Amino acid sequence: MGASSGLIQRLLNRWDNLVEIGELIEKGIADDPPPGLKEGGLIKEGFNEELDDLRKISKEGKDWITRLEEIEQQRTGINSLKVRYNKIYGYYIEVTKKNLPLVPEGYLRKQSLVNTERFISPELKEYESKILGAEERIIELEYEIFNMIREEVAREGKRIQQVARIIGELDVLFSLAEAADRYNYVRPIIDEGDSIDIIEGRHPVLEQVDGGERFIPNDTHIDCHENQILIITGPNMAGKSTYLRQVALVVLMAQIGSFVPAKEASIGIVDRIFTRVGAHDNLLRGQSTFMVEMNETANILNNATSRSLIILDEIGRGTSTFDGVSIAWSVVEHIHDSDRLGARTLFATHYHELTELSMILKRVKNYNIAVREWNEEIIFLRKIVKGGADKSYGIQVARLAGLPAEVLKRAKEVLMNLEESELNEIGMPKLGSKKHIHEEMTTAQLSLFTTPPDPLKERIRGIDIDNITPMEALKKLHEIKEMAKG
Ligand SMILES: Nc1ncnc2c1ncn2[C@@H]1O[C@H](COP(=O)(O)OP(=O)(O)OP(=O)(O)O)[C@@H](O)[C@H]1O
Ligand SMILES: [Mg+2]
Repeated sequence: MGASSGLIQRLLNRWDNLVEIGELIEKGIADDPPPGLKEGGLIKEGFNEELDDLRKISKEGKDWITRLEEIEQQRTGINSLKVRYNKIYGYYIEVTKKNLPLVPEGYLRKQSLVNTERFISPELKEYESKILGAEERIIELEYEIFNMIREEVAREGKRIQQVARIIGELDVLFSLAEAADRYNYVRPIIDEGDSIDIIEGRHPVLEQVDGGERFIPNDTHIDCHENQILIITGPNMAGKSTYLRQVALVVLMAQIGSFVPAKEASIGIVDRIFTRVGAHDNLLRGQSTFMVEMNETANILNNATSRSLIILDEIGRGTSTFDGVSIAWSVVEHIHDSDRLGARTLFATHYHELTELSMILKRVKNYNIAVREWNEEIIFLRKIVKGGADKSYGIQVARLAGLPAEVLKRAKEVLMNLEESELNEIGMPKLGSKKHIHEEMTTAQLSLFTTPPDPLKERIRGIDIDNITPMEALKKLHEIKEMAKG
């Protein structure tokens, strides 16, 4: 076949039509066999001579018995005479009681019922034993033949498995090709660089869900030197988890050799995709929800490399807010700073505090999934945009609920205070303090803010020269000298 793909050619080179196996089954096994193996009817006519003979005997016997009913009706003049079969007595002739006087000689009484009498005749029994003998043997023989065919097929098991594997692989390839064609996928560029660039990427499953809203595509740009960690915020239902999974799926599909649901995609190869999504606990194995979450996170931090893609969906939410934010915060710092790690990471979170990481970590970037308020409702735009999400919709919701205007005004003030005090006096987020701050960032930031107070100057400024004895002055001078040294 004229396939140009090396992969398909290699598959087809190993192709095996399994001709003899096919023929054996075709000739031997009935087209519509019964479910059981010991009911007969398994083996086709013409496959085995002995079987054909036995079937002929059985059929002729049955034909003779079918004719017997008519013959005996005429011979005896009993129109209601019947030839029947049951498992206990085999074949018998049944006559109603009122016709008993017409029963001929040679009928042997077998059984008396309320309205009828059952008879047999030596001739009938002779045919019966022929039929039953043949049928018994037919079932035995069919089972033997079936086993023989089965063994013969089993002997070729390896070949059949190989063909099955080839069919499996072709099926995967054809399905991917079909999906690519039907759903407008694009061929990704795959290279050894570290950027993942996706233009108008889509979630391959969600975009096919009928009845839902139209799927909104989104771009992605992530790399190891500038846009390494994307912190994605946005209200519930905005589409964060969807976006994370979509990026992971596009990368995965690209790397298995598939086209991807996007307008354009360029994928710098990843060595592994690590995910921490969803909350399924493992109570049976003695692990709580949070324990599972932390185990998975530990696994990621211990095994990811700078080539990996990490997808973190709301880690830290399984515990108290403060603990959660702290863990999430230091996980991001670790991924950012550790020499071995530096992995490309998408991190969806409701902790807005984490957006402040971008102020101290060079390669952390904030994104949010846009929403709009319109007529007292939140509208989900499903578009990922730069920057952290609005802090919250709490106050807007409170207004909807009818809180007095002055309460709302005061709440806004308090909110501003809270947000302000998240930064320290040099404009750095307090959450991140005690950690050496990225140097370039610090100098850049410092020039923008007032210089922090110098304790030495403060000390000197604090001396009241008009009210000090020479002894005290000497003592202070000594202290200042010590301070300057320290
Ligand atoms: N790009 C999109 N286009 C259309 N619909 C979308 C898109 N992204 C998400 N949705 C819809 O929004 C729903 C919620 O999305 P998702 O679960 O990703 O939100 P989320 O931000 O993770 O919410 P939460 O914070 O509660 O986890 C999805 O089930 C889907 O129906
Ligand atoms: Mg989510």
